[in-house]
Amino acid sequence: MAIMQPSTITVLGAGYVGLTTAALLAHAGYTVYALEPNKARLDVIKQGRSFFYEAGLDPVIKTALESGKFIPTNSYEDSVPGSDVVFSCVGTPDNPDGSSNLSYVFSAAEQAAKLMKQSAVFVQKSTVPVGTGAKIQELFSTINQSLHYVSNPEFLREGTALEDTLFFDRVVAGGDHTESVQTVLSLYHQLEAQRDSIAAIAAITSTEAKGEYIATGLASAELIKVTANAFLALKISFANSIAKLADKSGADVVEVMDAVGADKRIGRAFLNAGRGYGGGCFPKDVSGLISSGLDYGVDLEIMQAAQGVNGSMPGYVAEKLLQALNGNLEGASIAILGLAFKAGTSDSRKSPGVAIANILSKAGAVVTAYDPKANEEAKEDLLSNITLVDSLDDCVQNATAVVIATEWSEFASLPVTFYQQINSSLIIVDAVNKLDKHALAQSNLQYIGIGR
Ligand SMILES: NC(=O)c1ccc[n+]([C@@H]2O[C@H](COP(=O)([O-])OP(=O)(O)OC[C@H]3O[C@@H](n4cnc5c(N)ncnc54)[C@H](O)[C@@H]3O)[C@@H](O)[C@H]2O)c1
Repeated sequence: MAIMQPSTITVLGAGYVGLTTAALLAHAGYTVYALEPNKARLDVIKQGRSFFYEAGLDPVIKTALESGKFIPTNSYEDSVPGSDVVFSCVGTPDNPDGSSNLSYVFSAAEQAAKLMKQSAVFVQKSTVPVGTGAKIQELFSTINQSLHYVSNPEFLREGTALEDTLFFDRVVAGGDHTESVQTVLSLYHQLEAQRDSIAAIAAITSTEAKGEYIATGLASAELIKVTANAFLALKISFANSIAKLADKSGADVVEVMDAVGADKRIGRAFLNAGRGYGGGCFPKDVSGLISSGLDYGVDLEIMQAAQGVNGSMPGYVAEKLLQALNGNLEGASIAILGLAFKAGTSDSRKSPGVAIANILSKAGAVVTAYDPKANEEAKEDLLSNITLVDSLDDCVQNATAVVIATEWSEFASLPVTFYQQINSSLIIVDAVNKLDKHALAQSNLQYIGIGR
């Protein structure tokens, strides 16, 4: 089987996924164009850094840029025609009805196909509903029949994007053209061969990785991605359902899940109860899967239930605080610690911390919020009467209650004395279940966990 040996790659869309992918592939020896139409983002990337916070990424971008192998651009004409492989990493937000908005996906594919060279490989990294690749192949057949289409879903997590890409559990590539699928997998073999030197530049330590290379059919590759995310979301919503029962019955959901997750068949990961999932992936991937199921006449009730539980969690957290304040939030001074949808990122898309802050503010509380990385990104989603501050101390001063909404270690590791000096009868709502409830229970402080 003759596998193409690519030398030049274009990555369409230098967002969280595309920028990481492009910078890493440049270190694997390829010449990589990172194509980004958003001027503000591109200007930052051209300075050799990322426009979002991701540990280790800046030095990887900087050294790639300096080597001349990483070329930020906004021009399809300058990048695509000379590329052997074109990755699409454009956004796939959700439509108001929950279905996937594929307008960026189709417009990037069409623009690229018009310029791609003969027999080049178009790789879909964006998360798309099953069946999308077949539609793009149809589109390609009207533009350039020699192009090959491969689905190569992305599994990186923001906050650990470099570890996840370099020390991967699996790489999946699916398509009808076996050689092109193998070409895509060969890029990752090349990356794997360089990973220790890249990890050193990023100052990240290697983690245990299964490192599986999985070739599948096109529809399977598409469905693998959304199924994996849906299952993780399901585990979180399951843990949150049990947390509600634990709250009523006196059990501690952390103890429950530690023991349940000790069973190898189940596993402990993603059984953390709390304020629910958020971010740019899980919410839209779950709603996209429900919607694409309906397109095929399949009612994924189990995912509708997971979505419903998740949607209830910010309100559930607020309700627990309301009860602790004897049903009156009016004028209460509440500090929200954490606006990023999870620790390790500045991303605040669909963040539960933002949702909780807005619910409390609407209910009449005086809300102050702080995040070590996400203030800027969260600003526009917060109600205008919420005060955003630049330090932890400014956030908590004079607080009646503190809500820990993101599991940043700097919040989880705060000593009891920190809380005591704010207010000796402070209410602490641990919406991520990360605090030492026993240590707090010995003080006069009131600790409220989720299912604890
Ligand atoms: N962020 C994650 O953790 C993650 C993980 C796995 C998969 N994904 C999937 O990867 C895809 C990208 O996600 P993201 O978080 O990087 O999104 P993002 O919004 O950060 O980045 C997408 C980029 O594409 C650019 N773009 C839009 N239209 C374009 C076009 N026609 N040509 C070139 N560029 C264009 C945008 O300007 C933007 O910078 C999504 O489908 C997402 O579901 C994301």
